Amino acid sequence: MGFNHNDHYHPLLLDLLPPGPGVALDVGCGAGRFARRLAATGMHVEAIDRSGPMIDLARAAGSPGPGTISYRQADVATQKLPVEAYDFISCLASLHHVPFDTVTKLRDALVPGGVLAVLGLGRPSTPGDYARALVASPVNALARMVVYAGERLNGGIDPLPSAPIVETYPPMSRIRHDAARLLPGSKLRNLLFFRYLLVYRKEEDDHPM
Ligand SMILES: C[S@@+](CC[C@H](N)C(=O)[O-])C[C@H]1O[C@@H](n2cnc3c(N)ncnc32)[C@H](O)[C@@H]1O
Repeated sequence: MGFNHNDHYHPLLLDLLPPGPGVALDVGCGAGRFARRLAATGMHVEAIDRSGPMIDLARAAGSPGPGTISYRQADVATQKLPVEAYDFISCLASLHHVPFDTVTKLRDALVPGGVLAVLGLGRPSTPGDYARALVASPVNALARMVVYAGERLNGGIDPLPSAPIVETYPPMSRIRHDAARLLPGSKLRNLLFFRYLLVYRKEEDDHPM
């Protein structure tokens, strides 16, 4: 599979889990690698993806426990979500497939005190964004070589089925603006490998209208 930018950031995302096992929603779960990491912490995980083959693949990998995983084929843009149901909601490289304001639905689906974590992709739009992309490129090439060599030595890895992918990403300036508007108090930081991390913690007294 090669060096995977999303998997690389799993530990950073797991650090954001609220205390206690709780219930999580992983949006655009793909092959279910992050859902399994959540279940390994004891969380009960609902994992959704628009792609049927991805859900089949994820389901086939089972759950490591002690938490459970329930996989469902669903489009987050059209799927109705329960209000105040999840302690943790994650979107790893999936939010750019849907309108950004889908985050309001995700915000409302959090219990008070719950956390929404978006590992997202955006187009560079400031000199700082471009400088970061420039630095990331050689580091990325090195990481890919190291992981590829390791996989060859271990006999290679089966390729994943293809999922619906969009190759255009919103500009970071718009993401920053919309995040501040729709998720007040959220924090957005740029990560090295072509990703941003957006974290929103729902206030204890913040209930949907
Ligand atoms: C780049 S992959 C990331 C998969 C996984 N989160 C990971 O980290 O490996 C994006 C995933 O989002 C899913 N996806 C795209 N649009 C979606 C939507 N509207 N609702 C739910 N999932 C969607 C795709 O099927 C794909 O599996």
